[in-house]
Amino acid sequence: MASSDQTILVTGGAGFIGTHTVVQLLKSGFKVSIIDNLDNSVIEAVDRVREVVGPELSERLEFTKGDVRNKDDLENLFSKTKFDAVIHFAGLKAVGESVANPRRYFDVNLIGTINLYEVMAKYNCKKMVFSSSTTVYGQPEKMPCVEDFELRAISPYGRTKLFLEEIARDIQKAEPEWRIILLRYFNPVGAHESGKLGEDPKGIPNQLMPYIQQVAVGRLPELNVYGLDYPTKDGSAVRDYIHIMDLADGHIAALRKLLATENIGCTAYNLGTGQGTSVLEMVAAFEKVSGKKIPLKLCPRRPGDATAVYASTEKAEKELGWKAKYGVEEMCRDQWNWARNNPWGYQKKKD
Ligand code: UD1
Repeated sequence: MASSDQTILVTGGAGFIGTHTVVQLLKSGFKVSIIDNLDNSVIEAVDRVREVVGPELSERLEFTKGDVRNKDDLENLFSKTKFDAVIHFAGLKAVGESVANPRRYFDVNLIGTINLYEVMAKYNCKKMVFSSSTTVYGQPEKMPCVEDFELRAISPYGRTKLFLEEIARDIQKAEPEWRIILLRYFNPVGAHESGKLGEDPKGIPNQLMPYIQQVAVGRLPELNVYGLDYPTKDGSAVRDYIHIMDLADGHIAALRKLLATENIGCTAYNLGTGQGTSVLEMVAAFEKVSGKKIPLKLCPRRPGDATAVYASTEKAEKELGWKAKYGVEEMCRDQWNWARNNPWGYQKKKD
């Protein structure tokens, strides 16, 4: 199965999902070229990828500091290397920030991706795995989320993902030789089991698990729980958390499918576990594995948050032969392992 001559371009490969996916790509026999502008990530993360995979596989990894909005940066890469496919992670994902600064989201997410398609077409590389999100389901009325649900966006960030899904469908329809897989991520959490790679957001985290992690290591005093009046088992909102290594493996499965299937067209897959877990259950699981108490502060609901969102995993299981292996306890265990080894993330504490 190893495809040792195939080279994959990974945009945003220094980020949280990118680094874990690059590790699994290298271990699966692919050569990898990363392009990342390091706006929301650090070069240390790429050094850690090299540490994790060892010297031999590291030789099959290249890194370029560059920006997908800059066509010259992309041209420089494509003119030197023939890529077999692109996995496109580069983009912004903070909902609140996108409401305050939508132009930045349109610039990075939309312009960046359109540029990438242009350059890919020019160099006749027409295979793409695209990072989409549950955000395209909006506030779904039924659960679990099935890929053929009607799509809706409720924030500028969500609109960029929705537009980019539509753009992918339009391009593939007009030029049927394109093969495009849209991966809709549920809530990626956890870290590499080595404790060397993990999520390292800049500033105060927006997302639940990085926030809990920073409370556990003493960087933040308490967790704000956004709403305990949801119609759920314990009143807190329910999400489908997925271990980052399962998510990374989902990319490998999607890539193999893409490379092997001539008429795949443009198709979407959910990457989730199918299991719903509440905020309070997540806190309890994290407290259990870490032995740390997470003080809670009850806050009003966060605007735009849905009550319960979880995936139907049937399509990915059936067509990609992929299924998540890890449960909430392993997610928390690996997240804590990363946190206690790297309480300040990839960089040392700045005074
Ligand atoms: C969020 C985005 C989603 C995006 C995804 C990217 C929103 C509304 N949704 O998903 O569009 O694709 O991140 O990964 O922002 N919570 C707390 N306290 C906190 C943080 C979160 O109680 O400090 C709760 C939230 O209310 C929610 C759950 O934890 O019920 C998960 O929140 P989060 O980790 O931010 O993910 P989503 O909101 O599901």
